[in-house]
Amino acid sequence: MHVCCNAEDNQYLVRVNPTLEFIITSTDIAATGAAATLLIFNNEKGFSRQNIESICSVGQSTKKGNRSSGYIGEKGIGFKSVFLVTAQPYIFSNGYQISFNENPCPQCSLGYIVPEWVEEKPTRLLDIKQIYGKDSLPTTTLVLPLKADKINSVKQQLSSIHPEILSFLSKIRDFSVREDNEDPKMESVTTVSISSEINSAAKKNLNAESYTIHLSAGENGNDEKVCSYYM
Ligand SMILES: Nc1ncnc2c1ncn2[C@@H]1O[C@H](COP(=O)(O)OP(=O)(O)OP(=O)(O)O)[C@@H](O)[C@H]1O
Ligand SMILES: [Mg+2]
Repeated sequence: MHVCCNAEDNQYLVRVNPTLEFIITSTDIAATGAAATLLIFNNEKGFSRQNIESICSVGQSTKKGNRSSGYIGEKGIGFKSVFLVTAQPYIFSNGYQISFNENPCPQCSLGYIVPEWVEEKPTRLLDIKQIYGKDSLPTTTLVLPLKADKINSVKQQLSSIHPEILSFLSKIRDFSVREDNEDPKMESVTTVSISSEINSAAKKNLNAESYTIHLSAGENGNDEKVCSYYM
């Protein structure tokens, strides 16, 4: 999923543990009539004005020519892949609250890239906070009301995320996926929670970077397994 690439490219304050969380909920957060909404939480520094300008354009990546600095993205189109699964993505970040629409805006006949300011509807953010389960939200929250015919494939993709994902995402330390359903019996997504930490002792001996990954795929994360990766 492209959002993972952007989360890897994002910048993080030194004291935060870079975390990427996916929650798929049956609550219709954006009141668009969607039967499922994908919420993505990332505790990055958040969108700057340049990031907003870049995401509202095509081919204007803020990462252009910076591949050597470790960025994955640089074409400036990746985010648009969210339109495969949603007609109206929302971004809440650093005080910005905007949405995009795949349908052209009536005034300018342009779709996908024209941002619309989202009026603060207190219930919307309150709902998100409640589902997130903490008092404050991380800096960046994406809200993707899912297209009806894409819900199953998104659930499948979320359920089949492999622990190796953290080997590709070297900045992200904690990664999790869970489902929030009004009727818990209807839940069908496997809960995944992966965290990694550098094992400095092994690193010294093997001359390689070692990651310890705690995996839990149980109902309430009880049956946790630990495995190590060397890179
Ligand atoms: N989560 C984010 N936080 C901050 N800025 C972001 C985030 N996601 C996207 N951006 C900004 O939006 C721009 C466009 O993102 P997009 O994924 O479309 O392109 P890209 O990552 O630059 O290149 P690519 O097309 O190769 O992915 C980025 O260059 C960045 O400035
Ligand atoms: Mg990208």
